[in-house]
Amino acid sequence: MSADEDEDTAEMLHFNEIAHTFVGYSGDALRALRLRRNQFSLLSGDDRGLLAGYAEHLDAIERGIGANATALAEIASGSNMFGERTGTRPVARVSEENWSKLRSTIRQFVRDWSVDGALERQQCYQPLIDALLRVKPASSAGGDLVRVLVPGCGLSRLAFEIARLGYSVTGNEFSYHMLIASNWVLNCARERECCTLHPYLHHALNHRSRADMLRAVRVPDVCPAEYVDLLSSTGFSMAAGDFVELFGDSEQRGQWDAVVTCFFVDTAHNIVEYVRVIFAALKPGGVWLNLGPLLYHFAETRGEASIELELDELLRVVERVGFELMAPLEWRQCTYASDARSMLQSVYDCAFFQCRKPAAPVQLTPLGL
Ligand SMILES: C[S@@+](CC[C@H](N)C(=O)[O-])C[C@H]1O[C@@H](n2cnc3c(N)ncnc32)[C@H](O)[C@@H]1O
Repeated sequence: MSADEDEDTAEMLHFNEIAHTFVGYSGDALRALRLRRNQFSLLSGDDRGLLAGYAEHLDAIERGIGANATALAEIASGSNMFGERTGTRPVARVSEENWSKLRSTIRQFVRDWSVDGALERQQCYQPLIDALLRVKPASSAGGDLVRVLVPGCGLSRLAFEIARLGYSVTGNEFSYHMLIASNWVLNCARERECCTLHPYLHHALNHRSRADMLRAVRVPDVCPAEYVDLLSSTGFSMAAGDFVELFGDSEQRGQWDAVVTCFFVDTAHNIVEYVRVIFAALKPGGVWLNLGPLLYHFAETRGEASIELELDELLRVVERVGFELMAPLEWRQCTYASDARSMLQSVYDCAFFQCRKPAAPVQLTPLGL
């Protein structure tokens, strides 16, 4: 087998494992519920007697898991990225990390595609959209479509919102969990709120009430199928794969009018490389709009490269690479895939910056890192 064939097989096996998390979700979720039932059964009769309705609560969680399982199987059934029905191949073992990513994907549905996520989207996406409209109006390309790239687009709501405004948008994402889920929303969901998920029943901590833990969320709050004519006329698309591999390519040089990143730059092994790739991919005069924290994803992963710059140093790199800052740095308080009813709320003070690639070629300053 050639190296390319080896790589294709490994990729297909990886896809299959992720697809299996969708179709095999109830097996994992019910295992966790069994542990809770066991813990309850170990209590003394007196203690159990004081926990009115607890056994029924666990039964209600089981029904919620059943509803999630139905929804996730439906979501996965839309993807056949490797030419066969998703999740139909047997899988030897799914890692705990991939089960956990599936649970995060369910929470990501709340952020991107539910009424409950509206405030979070207002905090995170709206500043980027408003800035894009201001600095690169959809009509600014003299009759051509304005091309916008959204790297690490997660479940694609930001990319979709920009496309809805008449921009020609490409989302980029490398996680199969995200790609399977976005594919369903963008290409398969036929009407608003056609799918019910119970996103909070996997976590037992910080709920104010049983009802909070069990509550359902309906998705999608807006149905992309209703915009199919607009989206196909502007060429809305998804580029599946690693951002640097896909957009660091010489064919991508000077192709984009705008790059919009939200909670993305800190996913880099080497954030300097991300800045360079974004700079090269932009047309002269193109803009990069970024909002997010610096929660470097690989900072605590053994054996993984990770360059962790402070924000002021990142901004110096941005300028040394050749960008001009177009406006003073701003701060935005944002939550991320949060449960608004939880007793624990994590709020990021996100950096929001807007920069431009000069219209004329620039004399670069050595980075001196
Ligand atoms: C923190 S999430 C943010 C998602 C989305 N932008 C949002 O604000 O909801 C970062 C996303 O970037 C994706 N990602 C991370 N590294 C990537 C890479 N090298 N190429 C493409 N996508 C990547 C992850 O899979 C994840 O969906």
